[in-house]
Formats: sequence, C-alpha cells, structure tokens
Amino acid sequence: MQKPNKRLENQTCIITGSSSGLGASIAKSIAKEGANVVINYHSDKEGAEEVAHEISKQSNAPETLIIKCDVSKEDEVKDLFKQTISKFGTVDICIPNSGIQKDYPLHEMPLSAWQQVIDVNLTGQFLCAKEALNEFLRRGMRPEVSKSIGKLIHISSVHEIIPWAGHANYAAAKGGLKMLMESICQGYAPQKVRCNSIAPGAIKTDINKDVWDNKEGLEKVLKLIPYDRMGVPDDIGSVASWLASDESEYVNGTTLFVDGGMTCYPGFTENG
Ligand code: BGC
Repeated sequence: MQKPNKRLENQTCIITGSSSGLGASIAKSIAKEGANVVINYHSDKEGAEEVAHEISKQSNAPETLIIKCDVSKEDEVKDLFKQTISKFGTVDICIPNSGIQKDYPLHEMPLSAWQQVIDVNLTGQFLCAKEALNEFLRRGMRPEVSKSIGKLIHISSVHEIIPWAGHANYAAAKGGLKMLMESICQGYAPQKVRCNSIAPGAIKTDINKDVWDNKEGLEKVLKLIPYDRMGVPDDIGSVASWLASDESEYVNGTTLFVDGGMTCYPGFTENG
C-alpha cells in the first residue's frame, strides 16, 4: 500500500469515472499525495461517496468534490470543469479514466455499441483534454506547485496496441487515444504541458469480472500475463500519482504499460 508522500500538495486533480475500479484507486492514491480530488461519477453516486469517505479518513485529508457528469457530453464536461474551478480555483491534473466495453463480434456489432464505446472511451478523453488544456493555458505556470503547467494522464489499455477481435470498438477507441495523447504532447509540450497515458493490462475490476471470477477464465487470462498474476487497481493508482508528480517531469508523450508483461506477447515464448 502506498504511503502518504505529499508530492501533489496545493494541486487539484479531476479523475473521471472514479466511483469504482481503477478510477477509485487513482483518486485515493492522488489524495494521499495531498491534492484536492474531484470524484466524477456517471451513475454510481454511492460509490463516489464511499471513495470521498475513505479519503476523508486519511490523516491531513485533502478536500474532495463529487460531480456527476457523462464525459461524452460536451456541456456536462464543461460544467465539470466549471464547478471544479469555482471550488478550487484551477485544475492542475486531469485523469480521464471513464471507460466502457460493449463486446460483439464485428459482423454482429450494432452501430449503437460502436458509437457508445467511441463516445465514452475516445470522445470523452478529447473533451476532458480540451477543457484541461484551456484551463492550464488560462492559469499559466505556478512554479511553486509544479514544474509543468498541467498534467494530463489518459487511462488507455494494452489494447491501444494489442488487436482485440470481439472488442473492435474498444480497441479502435484505445488506438485512437494513443494518437490523441501523442498529438497533445507534440502540440502543447512547448507550453510545459505533460501528456501521457497509462495502459493497464488485465486488472481485476467489474469491467472484466466475467473473465476472472471463474477458474477456467482466470487460468486462460493468466496465460497472457508473464508475471503470472492479474493486476489490482492499486497497481494503477500508485503509477498515476508518480506520473502526476514532478518526479516524472521528463516523461512526456509516453504510454506506460502496467500489465505484468502482457505486451511482451507470452504466446511466443516457445512458439513462432
Ligand atoms: C479491458 C479488460 C481486459 C484487459 C486485458 C482492458 O483494457 O478493459 O477487460 O481484461 O484490457 O485484455
């Protein structure tokens, strides 16, 4: 478990989709570093309140703000930022994390399943990045809190590079996110924006519960992970807080794979 480190004091961080799963762990991890945390939820209000409650129990707990928002809607994302800025003055770190899966073989995929996944997993990332960039540039540098003008940490997936038949909407969104993140870095690094992605592998959350809550499913997925265990949300939380801090200042335009080696294609160990 991560110890309080206070690398993000006097900063404010929005984490979308932080009422459960990876987002909840990231929110708690960022709070341990001393940043004010905006917990965003789509429908799980109780989950968001539970995350805020857990943060409040920590010693010297930072402030939290719970905001409902559908990240695929421009007016709601604008409002998420407006409410955050009116409470905390600015946004220093934005972690667009919301993600959904609607799985179908491609020849059977309804347009609605394609569209919803692209809307949340790619357009939602664009809308959050756009608002965050506008706020970073409006506010300008605050050298007393960070060496960067602002930090964007997109939560991607190993499927930004690993093709995924049966989940092509998801893989297409994540592949697009790779280019979005790199284009932001290329365009805004001169203004001292840091923009990176974290690409989790198979992390135990509700999104993939059908894979890990039965013996055969778990055995199958473990064959894909050289490190021989599935990840847990805190594996991602601790990396996110480091990536948000000045300790990683020179990391920019990079995807950090946090996947126990999944992207080293273990199927090739004795094949090919
Ligand atoms: C997906 C999970 C999957 C993992 C590895 C993630 O991005 O959301 O369902 O287990 O990638 O395939």
